[in-house]
Amino acid sequence: MNVIDLRSDTITRPTPAMREAMAHASVGDDVFGDDPSVNALQERSAALLGKEAALFVPSGTMANQIAIRTHTEPGDEIIVETGAHIYQYEGGGYAALAGVSIRCVDGTRGLLDADQVRGGIRPEGGLSHFPVTKLIALENTANRGGGTIYSPARVSAIAGVAREHELRLHLDGARVFNAAVGLGLPVADVVAEYDSISFCLSKGLGAPVGSLLVGSRPFIDRAHRFRKMLGGGMRQAGILAAGGLHALEHHVDRMADDHARARRLGAALAEFPGVTVDLQTVETNMVYADLGGTGLDADGFVSGMADRGVALIKVSPSVIRVVTHLDVDDAGIDHAIAASGEVLGAARA
Ligand SMILES: Cc1ncc(COP(=O)(O)O)c(C=O)c1O
Repeated sequence: MNVIDLRSDTITRPTPAMREAMAHASVGDDVFGDDPSVNALQERSAALLGKEAALFVPSGTMANQIAIRTHTEPGDEIIVETGAHIYQYEGGGYAALAGVSIRCVDGTRGLLDADQVRGGIRPEGGLSHFPVTKLIALENTANRGGGTIYSPARVSAIAGVAREHELRLHLDGARVFNAAVGLGLPVADVVAEYDSISFCLSKGLGAPVGSLLVGSRPFIDRAHRFRKMLGGGMRQAGILAAGGLHALEHHVDRMADDHARARRLGAALAEFPGVTVDLQTVETNMVYADLGGTGLDADGFVSGMADRGVALIKVSPSVIRVVTHLDVDDAGIDHAIAASGEVLGAARA
């Protein structure tokens, strides 16, 4: 059976054209700094984001962890939204690798506002009891928020708070290109206020491996040392970088199709009795649906869908997530909608 795989946008396989670009990539030893394809990807990424420099790393997790380590010293504290990937899904790396504590602040639909951030900042001076707040890390799009987007005005207000308190501002931009396409803005405008940004090639952009950490030249020079320390210095990594360059060239604008498909699927799911979808969160390529009123739990729905050739994931006993991407077309969405109707209909019968 040809499975419609909606578990994540990380499951995409390189297209024939991307494989072609990778097969013919010029390579060198990137630990010596002489892999031309890695250098080209780093320069292209920095230019696209309007920053001075960029560093190619194996994963989004490593990009975030290097950013935290580069901005902080042990004993500092960082602020994130409670659902943030950095807090929930990076193995506690902030504590183990950077030695920092984390202040989780509840936002709305995965997004913080300036007042919420201000409320998470430790008092300055005083009795030296407190950890030192050093960094705010936002996530755009916010995965657990439903793929939600920070408006530029909201980011500017948070950046104002950061400046007021002399804090650094990092973006976990694993899906920042989805945010830019969703906003209809150049990605440089979306990241203008941040001191550093991580973004992933291996999610909506459809490349097999790799992420970039982007920022000022001194920041990236310092980050380079931590990449080595974490074992993230790769050798003929140009093979991978070529896939990334191809993705930046060919796979950004098409994300609008993924977003339209997610909206169509989200709206269709919301029509089924007992299914709740907060359509306000369906701004990019994700749909979270609560099956609470259907008589079926998430496990039952996931297994019924799997029997009909549709893969998706459960995120809680009653909530499932679907993600659209490069390898799912309109027919795949039609099939997923029809299969959902069958599975939910069978549960009601
Ligand atoms: C918001 C966010 N940040 C970071 C990451 C980490 O990326 P990686 O899986 O490449 O480590 C992910 C992965 O799903 C993510 O969703």
